[in-house]
Amino acid sequence: MSLIRIDVAAGSRSYPVLVGPDLAGRLKSHLDDLGFPAHRVVVSSPHVWRLHGDRAASALAGRTPVLVRDGERSKHLRTVSRIYDGLIAAAADRGSGIVAIGGGVIGDMAGFAAATYLRGIAVAHVPTTLLAQVDSAIGGKTGVNLPQGKNLVGAFHQPAAVLVDPSFLATLSGREFRAGLYEVLKYAMASSLSLFEHLQKNADTIARHRHAAALLPVIEQCCRIKAGIVTEDEREQGVRRVLNFGHTAGHAFEAVTRYARFRHGEAVAWGMLVACHLAHLRGRLDPGDRDAFGRLLFGVGTLPTIGDLRTSDVLDAIGRDKKVVEGRLNFVLPVGIGRVEIVQDVTTDELRAALVAAGCINS
Ligand code: GLY
Repeated sequence: MSLIRIDVAAGSRSYPVLVGPDLAGRLKSHLDDLGFPAHRVVVSSPHVWRLHGDRAASALAGRTPVLVRDGERSKHLRTVSRIYDGLIAAAADRGSGIVAIGGGVIGDMAGFAAATYLRGIAVAHVPTTLLAQVDSAIGGKTGVNLPQGKNLVGAFHQPAAVLVDPSFLATLSGREFRAGLYEVLKYAMASSLSLFEHLQKNADTIARHRHAAALLPVIEQCCRIKAGIVTEDEREQGVRRVLNFGHTAGHAFEAVTRYARFRHGEAVAWGMLVACHLAHLRGRLDPGDRDAFGRLLFGVGTLPTIGDLRTSDVLDAIGRDKKVVEGRLNFVLPVGIGRVEIVQDVTTDELRAALVAAGCINS
């Protein structure tokens, strides 16, 4: 398969997203061709490096990688501080570049280190999970969690390049893979009827067998959607907000379970169900479309249970979401398959009813 190039033309920077099955073994030559800084510091996790270090080592040019723990519970400022230590130890200067090899958490933290070290150095993302390949590696969102909530500290810092190699996905656990598929479902429900229909036909083959022939067009389509949205709205002032479908409640589910129960995509999956029920309760979403989404979502696999969460904890956490602007909650609600609207007038009673209808709380 030949290399696919998708361009992101964000206001602050234009850059390519390369998608191809054999990028991992040729990172150095791709980065060289793209003019990425020759002094490179790789940031990855011990787990990813054990699995892929041999292949990815070509990006290193002989330097020791900075390995930090991944996982949402490690996504905090202390871990970023360890990345700064690694950059100092590698004598990184303003002409150096970070190569982030890992899932969404590594990308977010390495991206944040790149945004802030010496007031900003280059970063290239090499995402190794489905979630990172289709979503988080593209678009320049970087940051860490605080105990009070998810991604509360961060910066927009667009990468110099994103290199997407689906062969990394072969080593993902079934659970991790499915967590990424939920973000694919997000794109389908939020912005693409054709992707939704494709997934209705192929989700089983993709989820169970990860057939490259079925998976690659899906990854490519998601990258194209994301690139188009970021090109139009780099800093989430408008259309980019549709990508938060499922995230308002999803982030709250992650926070109240202290990032220990759900993978990010799983919490978003529950959050998307809440949004579908909310939209239906407000008379904006046909029950047939709501149920079609539910069937597709549960067809991917079983989600971790959720019904034991305390209502007050969930409502408080939703109220603390960073999408609250001037005290008003932003909710992305579907109005059909592939179409969403953004509303700011959701009441606590409506939200509670939707959480109950989605099975997330008891009353
Ligand atoms: N993950 C949503 C965004 O990048 O805007």
